[in-house]
Formats: sequence, C-alpha cells, structure tokens
Amino acid sequence: MIFKMTEEEKKIFGLACPHLQVMSNELHTREVVHFCLQLLQIVGGDRHIVIPAAILHDTGWAKLPGNVSRKIRVPDGDPEAIKVHEEISALIAELILRDVNYQRAYIDEIVAIIIGHDSRKEAISLNDKILKDGDKLSRFSKDYSKIWPHWGDGSVAENIYAELSNGLRNWFFLPDSIKIAGIELGHRMQEDRSQCR
Ligand SMILES: [Fe+2]
Ligand SMILES: [Fe+2]
Repeated sequence: MIFKMTEEEKKIFGLACPHLQVMSNELHTREVVHFCLQLLQIVGGDRHIVIPAAILHDTGWAKLPGNVSRKIRVPDGDPEAIKVHEEISALIAELILRDVNYQRAYIDEIVAIIIGHDSRKEAISLNDKILKDGDKLSRFSKDYSKIWPHWGDGSVAENIYAELSNGLRNWFFLPDSIKIAGIELGHRMQEDRSQCR
C-alpha cells in the first residue's frame, strides 16, 4: 500500500528538508513518515499532529557540530546530551509550523512530542506512541536498516538481526508496531538470503 502526504505535509517537508541533510536524516524521516501513516490507518490518532511531528522530529541534528552529534547518537548515547537535538528540533518545528500558519493548539502538542521523542521513556498520548514507534520502525526498513547500524562513533552493530530482534521485543508501545516490525524483519532476512543464491 502507498501512503501519501497531503499538500500541506509536503510543504512542511520541503521546509524541513534543508535541516535533514546530515546522517541520512532525510531518508530516515521519509521512513518515519511512512510508518506513522501506516500506524495512523490501523490504530487511529491524529495525522495533523503525528505527521508534522514525524517530519520535524530530527531537524535539530544539523545544527550540532558533527563530532558532537556522532558521540551523542551512538546507540544508548548520553541521555542528557540527546536532549540537545530534541530541544533544537522543537524550536525549528515551532518556527516552520508558524511559518505555514499551522493551528496554535496543534503546534503545542507537536512541540511537546518532539521535545521528548528520544529521552522520554513513556508516551504522553496515542499520537506520541505512534511517533515513537514510527521512529523505531524506520530501523527495520529496506534502505535505512543498512545505514543506522553505522551511526555513532564509527562502530557497526555486529549482528543487525540480533539488534532488530531485541528491538522487536523492547522498543515498541503498540502491538501493531510489533507486528509491522516482525513482517519487515522477515522481509529483510528473506532479501539477505536471496542475495546469497
Ligand atoms: Fe531523534
Ligand atoms: Fe528519528
């Protein structure tokens, strides 16, 4: 199934795009949007909140010096340091959404979600659960699953399937996200096997 952004969401994406040109964040963001749209169809939630939050949640990375963000972004990086990219992303989101005259009440909820999307371990709403799960589901996608294990301090996850299997059990709030992750993981393993033939 193809999941499409509305014209307004595409406009927000266009404004976010210059802020997504580090660490494969444009690809990551497209995958997060894709999985959030999929989850919205299954579990409900409000796309006026979830999709702008998905588009804008990692815009802050590009404002950090590369050597700083690499240290922060290692898997299980410093939980306090990771807040820096959330706070900058929330500020950029506020400015971009004001620029497109987005509804004030929506902006407040989007900013609240972005500001804790990595550091806050519990979810504050269904919309927050969808964004948090969409963010993690991107790691199971065909293209981004080849990239994210290389992030951080230059180290590479030793066994991507072990990492993803662990994530399947521990990363998600919604049972439907676990189902989607399981299906994606099956596809990735199948693709790997067919490359060996
Ligand atoms: Fe993030
Ligand atoms: Fe992210």
